[in-house]
Amino acid sequence: MSRWKAPHLTLLAAALVAASIPLTAPFPARAATPRALASGPVNPGFETGDLTGWTVTSGTAFGPGAVSTAPAYWGGPFHHRGGHHLWGFAAAGDDATGTLTSSSFAAPDRLSFLVAGGWDPERLYVALVRDADGARLLTQTGVDDEAYVRTVWDTSPWRGQAVHLEVVDRKTGGWGHINLDDVRTGDAAVRDDNGLTFRTLGQANQPTTHRDFTADPLRPQFHYTPYQGWINDPNGLIQWRGRHHLFSQYHPDAPKWGPMHWAHADGPDAVHWRERPVALTPPPPATPTDNSGIFSGSAVDDHGTLTVAYTRSTDTTAHPGATPETVEIATSTDGVTFTPGTEVVSQAPPGSSAGFRDPKLFRDPLDGRWKMVVGSGDAGRGKVHLYASDDLRAWTYDGVLTEGDGTTGTMWECPDLFPLDGKWVLLYATNEGGQSLQRYAVGDYDGSRFTPERHGILDGGGDAYAAQSYLDDAGHRLMTAWMSDWNAREPTRIGGWAGAQTLHRELFLTADGRLGQRPVAAADTLAAGPPTTVTGKTVRGGWRIGRGDSARLRTVIDLGATTADTITLRLKASTAEATELRYEKSTGTLALDTTRAGYGTPATYTTRVELGPGNTLALDILIDRSSVEVFTGDGSALTARAHPRYQESDAVEFTAPAGGRIRLISASLTPLGSAVLTD
Ligand code: FRU
Repeated sequence: MSRWKAPHLTLLAAALVAASIPLTAPFPARAATPRALASGPVNPGFETGDLTGWTVTSGTAFGPGAVSTAPAYWGGPFHHRGGHHLWGFAAAGDDATGTLTSSSFAAPDRLSFLVAGGWDPERLYVALVRDADGARLLTQTGVDDEAYVRTVWDTSPWRGQAVHLEVVDRKTGGWGHINLDDVRTGDAAVRDDNGLTFRTLGQANQPTTHRDFTADPLRPQFHYTPYQGWINDPNGLIQWRGRHHLFSQYHPDAPKWGPMHWAHADGPDAVHWRERPVALTPPPPATPTDNSGIFSGSAVDDHGTLTVAYTRSTDTTAHPGATPETVEIATSTDGVTFTPGTEVVSQAPPGSSAGFRDPKLFRDPLDGRWKMVVGSGDAGRGKVHLYASDDLRAWTYDGVLTEGDGTTGTMWECPDLFPLDGKWVLLYATNEGGQSLQRYAVGDYDGSRFTPERHGILDGGGDAYAAQSYLDDAGHRLMTAWMSDWNAREPTRIGGWAGAQTLHRELFLTADGRLGQRPVAAADTLAAGPPTTVTGKTVRGGWRIGRGDSARLRTVIDLGATTADTITLRLKASTAEATELRYEKSTGTLALDTTRAGYGTPATYTTRVELGPGNTLALDILIDRSSVEVFTGDGSALTARAHPRYQESDAVEFTAPAGGRIRLISASLTPLGSAVLTD
């Protein structure tokens, strides 16, 4: 007999009482009769305001104070249901541990619940437990966020068996709590009260025997993602021996940042990616919290050898006295296996108090030498250091390439310097007032110093960071960025992964001297079916061009013949939610709004748009399952992650305010397929 049995029997009694089933027979006989089981746990959403129907079976994490009415936490609304929810932090903070056990019920076909709190599958989870033998049938951990995400379980293999839920918190310290609300069973588990269907999310729905990149409804289909684990910055971009290579900052063990590896993918066209073995691996950790790793860097071809330079980051808490950031070089002759790293810069130059990382290599056309820019900052100003070498091994410090004035961040990460259309461009990523920003400057470079002439923000959306570029064999300057940032919520953690790279983009200078971008030409090869196309259409009220959550919408709008001041495109739309793209004619502003998009970061991002010939607005919009990238005819971009809750949230619609009309010169919606190559 397992340890839970005694409390469980008491709970069953409570369940029966709550279900108004008279306890006429001796209790054990009742327990053995499946018909006596309730169809779900008592008090499934804690709406009694207390733990009625639930039993604290160990610890202090789930005292009565854990049933909370708090509508919001430090980062925004919880998105719980009803007036109450079980906030694992509320009773006793992160350091308390404990277990909370539901009443018993008959396993339904489907069960769903809202879960939030820390990610730790071993120590923080909601479990479906079989009464008879205490077997843990399914588990789900949190998302390292307080905002709830719905997990949907297929519980049909155990249909009718007596089961209960356990909320387990064995974790102390940061994110040492788990939250639960709104347990639903049967049809209600998948069908919301508004008639819409919850997306089937959760770790239990990710095949583990093989990689199925289509299984998770939040996984972008034509953007590079890790199957499990975490990625951030794109690294080592190069077209080498014909193939495009994409490395990524990677933590395989959890969908959150940790000891950094370099994941590796390659492909024929900068759009389709085949996963390769992990290229660079950090040393084994010296302590359980040792975060030493292989940080960001870049790649060049050195006489036929693929050569990468990166930051070797050493966690000085785990390695007291070590140098935190050095530059190492590793090489590969087959494009798959890399030599162990060799240190080539062992100390940051003076004036690097904020950091010294992310070396980007390039061959300098001005003197034919190898150059390396490294991100840094000091005294409240971001800066970039410049080094020179003849052999990629012996480097001389050439001084500060350029630095900020203190208004653009205190540490410039991931610098990238390259010539473009007769000027020089510097990319750098910063944190300004808690906000991650991908910046650029256009100016001149004399072989030693960069003089910026104008500054800009590369992408006006919230989810393009740590951009890196490379020159492809056809001479195009291609770029991709981490399609997230350090402040983003990552609801995809519910499925065990986080992070994606943007679609590769081609960079160019606009006629008025800005850095412009457009989707890489090979993105056309993603088309998975014929487009729905219209020409010369007037939209009054609303018009749905079609559906698609992996699709490309291209439209040209005649603003002269458009009377609506606000042109709204509803993307990933259903009756309950949508990601909105709005153009205001009177201000010339384009806004991408995720405040009612579903899970994830609610925000409104804006950019100003220069109109095209004949007073036209051209939009090229890449919609993927949890992302939207908007490109305008003038080379601007707005990128945001958006994570719909419902299966029905895939409509693509134009709407005009009452009395107004939108004149479309053309619009086409093309379904897009997967970017995943399996050999
Ligand atoms: C940028 C960054 C880099 C660093 C890497 C670590 O997002 O902070 O500066 O090398 O991420 O993963």
